[in-house]
Amino acid sequence: MTKEKYNVAVVGATGAVGTRMLEQLYASKIPYDKVVALASARSVGKKVSFGSAELTVEELTEDSFEDIDIALFSAGGSVSKKFAPYAVKAGAVVVDNTSYFRQNPNVPLVVPEVNAHALDAHNGIIACPNCSTIQMMLPLEAVRRVYGLKRVIVSTYQAIGGAGQQAMLEADRELREVLNDGVKPTDLHADILPCKGDKKHFPIAYNALAQIDVFTDNDYTYEEMKMTHETKKIMEDESIAVSATCVRIPVLIGHSESVYIETEKVAPIDDVKRLIAEFPGTVLQDDVANQVYPQAIEAVGKRETFVGRIRRDLDVENGIHMWVVADNLLKGAAWNSVQIAESLIERDQVHATTEMKFELI
Ligand SMILES: NC(=O)c1ccc[n+]([C@@H]2O[C@H](COP(=O)([O-])OP(=O)(O)OC[C@H]3O[C@@H](n4cnc5c(N)ncnc54)[C@H](OP(=O)(O)O)[C@@H]3O)[C@@H](O)[C@H]2O)c1
Repeated sequence: MTKEKYNVAVVGATGAVGTRMLEQLYASKIPYDKVVALASARSVGKKVSFGSAELTVEELTEDSFEDIDIALFSAGGSVSKKFAPYAVKAGAVVVDNTSYFRQNPNVPLVVPEVNAHALDAHNGIIACPNCSTIQMMLPLEAVRRVYGLKRVIVSTYQAIGGAGQQAMLEADRELREVLNDGVKPTDLHADILPCKGDKKHFPIAYNALAQIDVFTDNDYTYEEMKMTHETKKIMEDESIAVSATCVRIPVLIGHSESVYIETEKVAPIDDVKRLIAEFPGTVLQDDVANQVYPQAIEAVGKRETFVGRIRRDLDVENGIHMWVVADNLLKGAAWNSVQIAESLIERDQVHATTEMKFELI
């Protein structure tokens, strides 16, 4: 039943995404009463901004959710695995920004502009898709609803911020060492990128790394396979062919993507532009005569997804290319999560779950 005010917890409140979740929550339509900032024991007592106020960070424990209605999780998959079920047990609805529950059949995977209806079948946990998937969903859905979608081939140019706060600090240090101390990029030392979980680490300064997350058995990375699996789940269509190549580049915030699609029916390019311009959450920036196209630096701090360079493939009649840019920390994570919470309230879906479908460990 709709309440007048909601108690909200943000898990991972000191992180790159968590700090933005607090910012987006403050600016949202959600009528909140209490907002709780949770992180690891390392951060207890630290202050985080919430509008003009400050919240004191508390340690995440199994008992953190007693009077919480909505819990936004962004502290890594292992934290969600352990603690999200406790939040559900306490009666909260969880919006999880990590990859842990995304492919669980009991968990809707939601981009509100595309499939908000999936929220109505939630069992206490809703997953927010991967940042690189979310921004691609908007223009694709705009076109798919009218012309159908057979195939997607995407190459990403992803910002360092997608790998968290420590990766951004590492990149900053590397760039300073090259610019201020004259260190050759090949002599730089790296500890984090391309990803914490792999054996080797490479500098990102003056570089492009064709690896985001670890490799899977089929030689694609997990990040690439996330784009494949998540697209099919969100669009509820296993037949859409999706192949991705995910690349990290030395941009701090703002993911860019070169997206090639094949539609079922041939789509006139002017109509594709119109559909994308009219789709909620997207902004068309497509005027090549005046050099207008989306740029990562312009997308930072914005909730929208920017789309341009829309053009027909030179050889394939139903093939279309486009360039898609968004703030990975906002639409790719914090805003999409808060937007899910807004949608849950609008659809009267903030309620305790009656049948527990997640294991308490
Ligand atoms: N960055 C992006 O663009 C993006 C986009 C989509 C999804 N995600 C996902 O969002 C999650 C967070 O990413 P991020 O970039 O914000 O990472 P981050 O900057 O490294 O922040 C991690 C947060 O998790 C907290 N945390 C870590 N271990 C914890 C524990 N055992 N108990 C409680 N809190 C703990 C940290 O608290 P302390 O400060 O106390 O360590 C911090 O608040 C990841 O799962 C990531 O894959 C990120």
